[in-house]
This record gives sequence, structure tokens and C-alpha cells, in this order.
Amino acid sequence: MSENGNYRSFIDICDVETADLNAMLSGALMAKQAREGTPRGVIDGLRPLDGHLLAMIFEKPSTRTRVSFDVAIRQLGGQSIVLSAADLQLGRGETIADTARVLSRMADIIMLRTHEPEKLAELASEASVPVINGLTDASHPCQIMADLLTLLEHKGTVAGRKVAWVGDGNNVLTSWIHAAGKLDFELSISTPPELSPDADALAWARANGAKVSVGTDPQAAVSGADCVVTDTWVSMNDTDTASRHNLLQSYQVNDALMSHAADDAIFMHCLPAHREEEVTASVIDGPRSVVWDEAENRLHAQKAILRWCLNKL
Ligand code: CP
Ligand code: NVA
Repeated sequence: MSENGNYRSFIDICDVETADLNAMLSGALMAKQAREGTPRGVIDGLRPLDGHLLAMIFEKPSTRTRVSFDVAIRQLGGQSIVLSAADLQLGRGETIADTARVLSRMADIIMLRTHEPEKLAELASEASVPVINGLTDASHPCQIMADLLTLLEHKGTVAGRKVAWVGDGNNVLTSWIHAAGKLDFELSISTPPELSPDADALAWARANGAKVSVGTDPQAAVSGADCVVTDTWVSMNDTDTASRHNLLQSYQVNDALMSHAADDAIFMHCLPAHREEEVTASVIDGPRSVVWDEAENRLHAQKAILRWCLNKL
């Protein structure tokens, strides 16, 4: 919470109270269900963020994050400005602190997608409006809020479920680990030893009672899972493409691997996907895949995040 108690930033799931995470998830699900059958633009009739401006800064490419936040703020009654860092003075060396101070005089909330988590932390500390993490090299909390919403929607509960991660120990996995330290589900991770999950996140989650296991065998991780998740082998910050492909060859999510999951298991991927690399077309385009619900749920989860940040959930 800010000093005057009117707003809070959404930086990482590990920093948010469990009750608040659950309130955002159940609020998002109710809002999604309430709009069924209504025209897409005529929803959230109370326009809780009427008159609010969201400024979004992208230092990396984006399709889902850009569009879902833009649509979210409009459907809540607000407006947005999308800024590429290359077009800002930030790209010519103006400090993040000065950028934060200027944007805070004009925008009501700021979202940043950047490389270093330190830059996001500095923006949040220097801004006098809430700041949202739109992905860094280290984490992607908005994605995992959408993934948790998708799990809730398809399985009825998050608590008690088994989620299996197969592949790179990357930023998306770190936010899953944070979620496992806050919510009562089992997270079973398999990565190559060279691409293991973030050690600090794991230590934090375990200290907070997370049911998290880490190994190198995808079949063992997936065994009996309610949900199987993977991500690209080469993230936006990675340069070692060839060696990653070699290390991750045996971590492809295919029909043979999915046969070890629960009979009614779902498959998730944050997208963008690379068919026949981290996942076969038969899985991502098959009956167990919920990736399009997951992508849509970015919109619903982020509406709840925007409202929570502005104390209007
Ligand atoms: N999943 C996700 O964050 O997608 P974008 O990179 O397209 O925003
Ligand atoms: N791990 C991926 C996620 C993209 C949404 C990346 O950082 O590129």
C-alpha cells in the first residue's frame, strides 16, 4: 500500500497476500461469467476505473500483454497510452526515476515490460502511482494470475491440484513458484539440470510451505498431474538458442508425455508457442489444450489486478 493507503503496485506474486490473490481470482471469474452473452464492449457497466489512464512501457515485444491491458482498462472505463521505450527519452538515457516522476503526474497507473527486475523496482519506488510488472527476465506474474484463473475455471479449485512444469527454468516458472508459496497446490517441476529454476524463488517458496518438487524427469513430474505447463525454449532475453534446443530436446510436451498425466488433465502455455519444439501440434491444438482460454484470461485477470492496484476491486 502507498503511504496514503489508496494504491499498491503488482510486482510479484510472492509480495501479495494470499487473501488478495484469491479475491482477484474469484472476482475475475465472476466478472468473466457475468459478461457471458453480453456484447464485449458493454460490460463492467459500473466503469470502476472511469477517467483513469494506464501508461504502458514496452522494452520487449508483446502481443497478449499489450492488447489485454489495453482492452482491460477500456472495458473498466479508462484509457491507455502504449509507449515503446525506444521512442521515449528513456531510450536515450533519461533515468527510470525521472520517467517515473513525469508519468506519475499524468497517468494513474503504469505497466512496464522490461529486462532487469531492478528497473521495475526503481520505477515502482519512484512513481507515486501503482506500477504493474508486465514481464521481466525474472518473472511474469500477470501471466500466472491468468493461468491460475484458467485452472480455477477448468478444475473448480486451485487448492489440491497438481501442476507439472516441463522445460526451461525461466521467468514464467518463477512466478508459478511464487504462486505455490501462496496457494495450496502442488507444483512438480522438471527442467534440465543446466536450466534449473531460480534458487531464491524456490528457497522462498519452501520456507513458505510450498508443495514444490524439482527434478529432471518430465515423466515423473507429469505423473497424475491435473495441468501440464510448458513455455518456449528460448525466451526473449536468451541468446544461446542452439545449446538450449539441445538441452531441452527430451522436454517436449507430446502425446506420449501427456499420457502420464491425469485422464482429464489440461495443457497450458503462455504463448507465443513453437510447434514441434516445446510442444507438439497434437497437444497444443488437441482436446486437452486450454491455451485460448488462458490467453483470454489475461484480460479478466488483469482487470482484477488493475482494480486491486487502485483499491477498487
Ligand atoms: N504471454 C505473453 O505475455 O505474451 P506476449 O509476449 O505476447 O505479451
Ligand atoms: N519466457 C518467455 C515468456 C513470453 C511471454 C519470454 O520471456 O520470452
